[in-house]
Amino acid sequence: MADENKTNAQNSQQNSLWGGRYAEGPGAIMREINASIGFDRKMWRQDIRGSLAHAAMLAHVGIISAEDEAAIRKGLAEIAAEIDAGQFPFSEALEDIHMNIEARLTERIGEAGKRLHTGRSRNDQVALDVRLWVRDAIDGLDAQIADVMRALVARAAEHAGTVMPGFTHLQPAQPTTFGHHLLAYVEMLSRDRGRLADCRRRLNESPLGAAALCGTGFPIDRHMTAKALGFDGPTRNSLDSVASRDFAAEFLFACAMCATHLSRFAEEIVIWTNPYFGFVKLTDAFTTGSSIMPQKRNPDAAELVRGKTGRMIGNLVSMLTTLKGLALTYFKDMQEDKEPVFDAAENLALALAAIGGMVRDMAPQVDRLAEAAGAGFSTATDLADWLVRELKMPFRDAHHVTGRLVARAEERGVDLAGLTIAEMQAVEPRIHQGVFDVLSVAASVRSRTSHGGTAPANVARMAAEWKERLA
Ligand code: ARG
Repeated sequence: MADENKTNAQNSQQNSLWGGRYAEGPGAIMREINASIGFDRKMWRQDIRGSLAHAAMLAHVGIISAEDEAAIRKGLAEIAAEIDAGQFPFSEALEDIHMNIEARLTERIGEAGKRLHTGRSRNDQVALDVRLWVRDAIDGLDAQIADVMRALVARAAEHAGTVMPGFTHLQPAQPTTFGHHLLAYVEMLSRDRGRLADCRRRLNESPLGAAALCGTGFPIDRHMTAKALGFDGPTRNSLDSVASRDFAAEFLFACAMCATHLSRFAEEIVIWTNPYFGFVKLTDAFTTGSSIMPQKRNPDAAELVRGKTGRMIGNLVSMLTTLKGLALTYFKDMQEDKEPVFDAAENLALALAAIGGMVRDMAPQVDRLAEAAGAGFSTATDLADWLVRELKMPFRDAHHVTGRLVARAEERGVDLAGLTIAEMQAVEPRIHQGVFDVLSVAASVRSRTSHGGTAPANVARMAAEWKERLA
C-alpha cells in the first residue's frame, strides 16, 4: 500500500521491487543469481543424512576423531530440530543448503564442524542429496499411485457389468463396460510404477566420495557410506558421479508420463460430467460453482490435473536442455536441476490425490451410460461378425452389408434392432431371426471374451486379480 507521506515517484521506486534490489549493485545481483537456498532447502533432510554417513565413515577410517564425529552428530541433530521447528536462520549469502548447514554446524560446535567437509566436495554432496531426494519422492509417489489403482479397481469391480459406449475418435464405436474402462487406467498406472521402479534401481548408487570430480587421496570408504545410505554400492566413475543427472531426467519422464495418463483421465472426467454426456456426476467436493451462472458445476480439479501436465512435460524438457550443452563435469547450470524435480514430484503428488479423490467421489449414471451405449449403431460390428459366423460371408462383404443396413436404419430413424426382418432381407436375403440375438448391448459385451476383452466376466476377474496384487 502506498505510503501517504511519500511522493508518487518515491512510491513507484519502492514498488519496483527488482530495480530496488539490483540497485544495491553487483554484490546483490551475484548473491541472488548464485543462491539456491530459496529452493534447495527442501533437501535439508537428505543433506543431513548424507553428512551423518560421511562423518561416521571419516571417524571409522580414522580421518577424524570419535569425539569430533560425536559432536558433528549432536550438532546435526540440533540443526535438524531447528529446521523442523522453522527456526533455522537460512541465509542467502551462504548460497545453498549445504553451506547453510555446514556454517551453522561450525557456529554450534566449532572446530569439529570444519572437519566435516574432509574428502568431499559440494559437487558430490549435491549429487548425493538430489539422488536421495528423488529416491524418497519415488517411494512416496509409488505408494500414491498404488492407492489410486486400488480406488480404480474397487470402482471397476463395482461396475464390471455397467455398460457404456466405447469410443474411437470420440465417436461411438462399440459397447464396453465402465469397469473395463477404469481398468485400462490401472494398466497404465501400473507401467508408471514400473518406470519409477526402474529409475530408482538405476539411481541407487552413491556418488558420495567422488569429491570435486576426481575422487580424493584420503582413505575414505565409499562402500561404507553407500551402504549406510541404503545404496546398492558406490558409483564407479568420479567424473560421471558429479556430472550426471540422467536419473533426474528419467524421473521427470516417469512423472510426465504418469501425469499424461492422469491428464487423459481428467479429460474424460471433463467430458463425462458435461450434461450433454451426463455419464458421471461429481459432488461439490471436486467441482466449483460459477460466480454468475448458478446452474454450473465446473470440474475444476480435473481441469487442473490436465492443466498441470503441461508444466510436468516442461520440467523434463528443461532438464534435458540444461544438460545438453554441458561438457564434463560440474557447471553451475546444474543448480537448475532441482526446481523441475521438486515441481514434478509435488504436482504429481497433488494430481494423484485429486484423481484418487475423484475416482472415489464420482457417481456413474448407470441408466444414461446404458442408453448411450446402445446409440450410434454401436452393435454394427456384432452384426457384421454374425454375418461372417452364420452365413459364412467373408468379413469385407459382411462389413459392406452391415453398412447398408445401418444406412437403412438411419433413414428410418431406428436402431439396428428396430429394423424388421423383411427390411434386413431386402439387403441380404439369407438373414434370419437369429440376428436379433447379437444386436443388444448386453449381448455385445458378453460376447467379447477374448483375452483382455470387455466381457463383464473378464472384467470382474481382472478386477479381482488386481485387487489381490495390490493388497
Ligand atoms: N548449489 C549447488 C548446486 O545446486 C551446489 C554445488 C556447488 N558446487 C560448485 N562447484 N559450485 O549445484
